[in-house]
Amino acid sequence: MTAPFKHPTHWKGKELPSVLRRLFEVPNGHTLDVARKHGAYETIGASLFDQSQFELIQTIMDSGLRGRGGAGFPTGMKWSFVPRGGAKPVYLVINADEGEPGTFKDRLCLTRDPHLLIEGCIIAGYALGVRNCYIFVRGEMLPQIRALNHAIGEAYAAGLLGERIAGSRYALDIHVHRGAGAYICGEETGLINALEGYKGQPRLKPPFPAISGAFASPTVVNNVETIMAVPAIVKNGAKWYRQWGTEKSPGSKLFSISGDITNPGVYEVPLGMSYSDFFELCGGLKGDLLGCIPGGSSAPVLTADETRKATLDYESLQALKSMLGSGAITPFNTTRDPVRILQSIARFYAHESCGQCTPCREGTGYVDRILDAVVDGKGGAGDIDLMKDLADRFEWTTICAFAPGAAWPVQSFITKFRSHFDAYVKRNPRWQEPRALDAVRPGAFW
Ligand SMILES: Cc1cc2nc3c(=O)[nH]c(=O)nc-3n(C[C@H](O)[C@H](O)[C@H](O)COP(=O)(O)O)c2cc1C
Ligand code: SF4
Repeated sequence: MTAPFKHPTHWKGKELPSVLRRLFEVPNGHTLDVARKHGAYETIGASLFDQSQFELIQTIMDSGLRGRGGAGFPTGMKWSFVPRGGAKPVYLVINADEGEPGTFKDRLCLTRDPHLLIEGCIIAGYALGVRNCYIFVRGEMLPQIRALNHAIGEAYAAGLLGERIAGSRYALDIHVHRGAGAYICGEETGLINALEGYKGQPRLKPPFPAISGAFASPTVVNNVETIMAVPAIVKNGAKWYRQWGTEKSPGSKLFSISGDITNPGVYEVPLGMSYSDFFELCGGLKGDLLGCIPGGSSAPVLTADETRKATLDYESLQALKSMLGSGAITPFNTTRDPVRILQSIARFYAHESCGQCTPCREGTGYVDRILDAVVDGKGGAGDIDLMKDLADRFEWTTICAFAPGAAWPVQSFITKFRSHFDAYVKRNPRWQEPRALDAVRPGAFW
């Protein structure tokens, strides 16, 4: 039997942050009694409700907290876009869809510390003038949904939700909405469509959700982890939060690591740590590093050399033309085949395209089928360039950011591991013969 996961407490003589993982290893930390013994809901009281909404938003802005759902958009700035005093209600929607391959941090948060999310929702809800908050959870995450519903029930019973929260004049209801399990429902406007009962298909922006989102009303969509960072910031201040991280990426973040690593799992570390240090913290790499997907399947892959230069923050990955994304890290060693890794990623995107935009729907399908043919030893001379060309064409010609996220792995794997792809093509004795695109139309075989 494997030993239960233990998060390291220190790294190189320094204490590691415990903003988000506070209750991850505490037995029954998901229950109100235990959570309260560890400081849950300490922010919910007069000290919160005596502050103005603007003061709270300013604190979040000063902390530099950035969205943890993938794009890294500054949270305080997003909150400041919401129009005030209009006739329509403002909604807060928590994105707990977590569909990006390699990402498994939010589901841990929901089972281990749902009260921290609820506390964050109360603070964010108050700051934004929200009466109703929706938590959109991936439908198959049953343990998470159970834990969340149980915690919400406890919070209502304790007067922490509903009318007159903690004796104040503020009222908030939280509704848990089960998604139907499509990756595209994690995209904020696809999510809003699904929440409203329509097909989970993204909407054209503008209007952005902050102006017209759920039920045509101003809506803030935030990731689970983003909102869970809010209570500690409000309690301890923006400066305290900035003790970790870099100027542009302050604070701590959860990273889910899998692949060729000794101790896969979810870790909370200060932003700005090097990938090499992080691998060591996770027990070390298995084998010799060939490359690394640094921030979820959409993030452009890094070579071993690039990975050694990279640090866990938004600006370092941007400089390497990749991204921190959802914080899902997948290192792979020299025994792995980059072509087969891309094949699996390409299959995922072809399957998950919502189909509204022709370049995305058709392009991801073509890449998937060409790559299958290449792996099966049926590749042709121009196939690798054709896949790259297709990705270049669907990258920025669509409604939502799914298509660029599907293009980046194709472009980066092909560019950085080209010889592996060429070797596959040359396994086909007929690789130099001309080949019609018809060969990779749906249902067609070489
Ligand atoms: C295809 C696609 C899938 C996404 N999936 C998720 C997801 O599962 N969870 C999430 O929080 N954000 C996801 N996002 C990002 C959301 O659209 C949105 O930016 C995020 O929820 C905003 O929250 P944040 O500012 O707290 O990061 C996805 C984006 C795209 C384009
Ligand atoms: S880019 Fe792809 S996933 Fe996004 S709306 Fe268009 S077809 Fe759907």
